[in-house]
Amino acid sequence: MKNFYITTAIDYANGSPHLGHAYEKVLTDVIARCRRLKGDNVYFLTGLDEHGQKVQQSARKAGVEPIVLCDAQAEKFQNLCKILNISNDDYIRTSQPRHKKVVAEILQKLYDKGEIYKAEYKGFYSTRQEQFLQEKDKVDGKWPEIFGEVVEITESNYFFKLRQYQDWLIEYIEKNESFIYPRFRAKQVIEFLKEPLNDLCISRPKERLEWGIELPFDTDYVTYVWFDALVNYISAIGYGTDDFNKNWPADFHVIGKDILVPPHSVYWPIMLHASGIELPKSLLVHGWWLSSGEKMSKSLGNIVNPLDLIEKFGADPFRYFLMREMNVGQDSDFSMDLFVTRYTSDLGNDLGNLISRLLNMGKRYCQSIVPTANEDFEFETQLKNLAKETTTDVMALFDGMQFHIALERIFNFIRAINRYAEQRAPWKLAKSEDSADQELLKTTLANMAEAIRISAVLLAPIMPSVSEKILNLIGAGNIDKFEGNLEWSDKLAGTKLADQEILFPRPN
Ligand code: ME8
Ligand code: MG
Repeated sequence: MKNFYITTAIDYANGSPHLGHAYEKVLTDVIARCRRLKGDNVYFLTGLDEHGQKVQQSARKAGVEPIVLCDAQAEKFQNLCKILNISNDDYIRTSQPRHKKVVAEILQKLYDKGEIYKAEYKGFYSTRQEQFLQEKDKVDGKWPEIFGEVVEITESNYFFKLRQYQDWLIEYIEKNESFIYPRFRAKQVIEFLKEPLNDLCISRPKERLEWGIELPFDTDYVTYVWFDALVNYISAIGYGTDDFNKNWPADFHVIGKDILVPPHSVYWPIMLHASGIELPKSLLVHGWWLSSGEKMSKSLGNIVNPLDLIEKFGADPFRYFLMREMNVGQDSDFSMDLFVTRYTSDLGNDLGNLISRLLNMGKRYCQSIVPTANEDFEFETQLKNLAKETTTDVMALFDGMQFHIALERIFNFIRAINRYAEQRAPWKLAKSEDSADQELLKTTLANMAEAIRISAVLLAPIMPSVSEKILNLIGAGNIDKFEGNLEWSDKLAGTKLADQEILFPRPN
């Protein structure tokens, strides 16, 4: 059976990991983990996009070879994956031979088919920014200061025939409703495709750019960085080998909204179609994390460094916050106050205290052994019904990628367990000599433990370490599937509860 194949965008090597990168990886990881827990074989790819002008410039400034800079960046970005507990199966770097080989193959194939032609390009060029300009870059009829000297140049370049596929692409997007998720993003693509497409300039003369993949049919040029980067999705899984079809077509390319139009929704489908390769099943387009309402950027100085937050609060609380606050597809504003509130109230007060309560009372009232539950009364039935409703709804919400609502529902259930404890008040029951009260005490602790077990199972894709820890604290052991673990059961009866443990310490 084909694997469930999911990818993230590959991060641009000329920058530092920020909240946006962290979010995309966490979102993709949560989907990957959900799928694994549902029993699918998952293949999860992420990586680094290394070529291009900006990397070359930065390397020059630093007085090192571009690869030296990229090696250091690869370490940084891979470290982010590690501390975020990202479960990727592979990490592709576009400077790797396995990648360059496939890019060259695709270029050659398209060239041989006549999909690529050479032509003269005449236009305005900014020497300072090393880029071609268009009339629309002018402000009040003049080239803005940032471009420095602007000259008119004529240059020969290679072009990929995009335009001839325009009608095919429009029809494809209109017919395949699940190709772009959320659906409203498809409208932007269709809107973009209302204007005639220009063929895509896919080469850069080596005098201007050396740090790239050489055109196999003309070694005076390297290829345009997007033409190179997009191919990572197939080079990493062995395009051209028997293994390729184990993963391809991708189930999801997870990307941010800024790289949907045109790279992922226009260049990539046409590159694949022209090469005779199936299209990915779906582009999952997420929104942006903003900081005080603005896009995070170096120049605004409002970049949130995920490493600082993780160091202070731990990876799982950070993952929880990202998934709880972002409605996949929309934008979301990061605020430190909100982060701290989520941490202290949801995680500390609701979840953390619940676990402490159970472990404490277990130790005090039943030698830390989970008792067997007895008869159900109204409160017990209510709790069990809510457990059932919550698990059913949460599974559907996971499938629909409504993680923020799923978490809201799980935490409603967690609060209901706390409420149940208050309704039953084991500390009062423990004082009673009455045997019915003693039975009710056992029932209460057993049900609390079971409800906590189910909550921890539901939290596994989002907070894998916390989930595992809770399951171990209550003697439930590790899980690797949802199946058989979501139903209310008495499987905890007789297991040993661990000693007190603070799951979410107050940050200092
Ligand atoms: O675009 N909020 O790399 P990149 C959410 N190399 N997501 C954000 C974000 C934010 N504030 N800022 C960036 C590139 N992203 C290319 C991709 S794929 C073949 C090549 C997302 O490092 C962005 O939308 O600039 C993209 O999906 C990813 O982070 C990497 O961005
Ligand atoms: Mg970017």
